[in-house]
Amino acid sequence: MKVDVLLGLQWGDEGKGKIVDVLTPRYNYIARFQGGPNAGHTLEFNGIKHVLRTIPSGIFHEGAVNIIGNGVVIDPVVVIAEIEALLKMGVEVKKRLLFSKKAHLILPTHRLLDAASEAAKGSNKIGSTLKGIGPTYMDKTGRNGLRLGDIHTADFRQKYSSLVEKHKQLLGFYNFSYQLEEMEQEWFKAIEELKKYEQIESEHFLNQALSNNQAILAEGAQGSLLDIDFGSYPFVTSSNTICAGACTGLGIAPNKIGNVYGIFKAYCTRVGSGPFPTELHDADGDKIRNNGREFGSVTGRPRRCGWLDLPALKYAIAINGVTELLMMKADVLSDFDTIKICTHYLLEGKKIDYLPYDIQNEQLSPVYEELKGWNKDLTQLNNERDFPVELIQYIAFVEKHTGVPITVVSIGPDRTQTIIRNKKAVAV
Ligand code: GDP
Ligand code: IMO
Ligand code: MG
Repeated sequence: MKVDVLLGLQWGDEGKGKIVDVLTPRYNYIARFQGGPNAGHTLEFNGIKHVLRTIPSGIFHEGAVNIIGNGVVIDPVVVIAEIEALLKMGVEVKKRLLFSKKAHLILPTHRLLDAASEAAKGSNKIGSTLKGIGPTYMDKTGRNGLRLGDIHTADFRQKYSSLVEKHKQLLGFYNFSYQLEEMEQEWFKAIEELKKYEQIESEHFLNQALSNNQAILAEGAQGSLLDIDFGSYPFVTSSNTICAGACTGLGIAPNKIGNVYGIFKAYCTRVGSGPFPTELHDADGDKIRNNGREFGSVTGRPRRCGWLDLPALKYAIAINGVTELLMMKADVLSDFDTIKICTHYLLEGKKIDYLPYDIQNEQLSPVYEELKGWNKDLTQLNNERDFPVELIQYIAFVEKHTGVPITVVSIGPDRTQTIIRNKKAVAV
């Protein structure tokens, strides 16, 4: 068996949580491979709307075990709150959730450092979710970090204190004022709770599962354009959000990767700062935001909205080796007479179809093709046979330009509003 990977191809919030939940019945294990509680993955079913931050989106299914991989960074306070919310809903979390011992811990001082670093950047701020992600990955690569497995060791408090001392010095350097005591009490209380949950060597566990013919789905967080190496640096997150991140974040060899499901919205959104070539600052942008309820599931910030960007999508497809595309939120474009798709950019008068190195400072303008809108409510449809012809044309346009089949079209937030298409060969 191979590991299938599901990841976002844009700037996050593509609908990963919804689709992982829909696909979970096909898998034995769902494994998150990177990111932390900067993620907010929304699921809707039976009239329930639920947002997951660290816990994989397969948790509501009885038949699947969910694994938080070594590449994830864990805030004990957040994950315990997530667990408590699930327990209240009657989810048997203990049976369905396993933690990698090698996952790194977000300390309260990582969150303070995130806030201090953002404040120091002034108008150049990243627009971070301020969950301590950057500082935690910095300590991981700087070889200072604390890992989940450490919580069971005798000298855990000592390790904690020596790292916090370093952080205090840095906070002093930033001249940042803070109250740590309450945050620490809450954190250590959550650590005690976390001790009740099973920790595993997840790389051995998952490779053994593969040998036993078990089906595994790796769940990404954020999106490819927020990747630390290939995103719009420095306006990115601090992990590898791309397919390669599933290898390092779970201990899966590259030749064990199977299908790569790439999720994208029928348009684009971005929260936080950074370049966004097709961003709309007009009534169309507002309409997308209102129709799509484009407000952050973690921070509540309005998401910036724009038309679909094919050069950026093709870039993400190439870097991830996407084998199937899943198009989300088609219903959001239902009341547009015309819909634009960016096929190229103009850079200093020249037509290009790639993302240049420093798009923040470049004069880049998108070149659009206009397609006829479908002007029909899609949310009640059950079959692709009922798709309006303009939607079929929109899908075919994207398939033609990317060379990858769109196998799923999502037409609403609920689990049931998901149309699985027949896989078709497409012309490149
Ligand atoms: P994730 O981070 O990729 O899991 O995405 P988020 O949960 O942050 O954001 C996606 C939002 O769109 C959530 O509020 C979902 O409930 C919602 N959503 C997902 N798919 C669809 C869809 O096809 N149509 C509409 N209207 N909403 C959707
Ligand atoms: P999901 O998994 C959308 C963005 C932040 C900011 C930048 C860095 O729900 O798709 P960080 O907190 O990592 O330091 O923020 O990345 N960002 C996300 N945007 N969806 C996410 O996750 C995001 N996680 C981080 O807004 O611009
Ligand atoms: Mg999200």
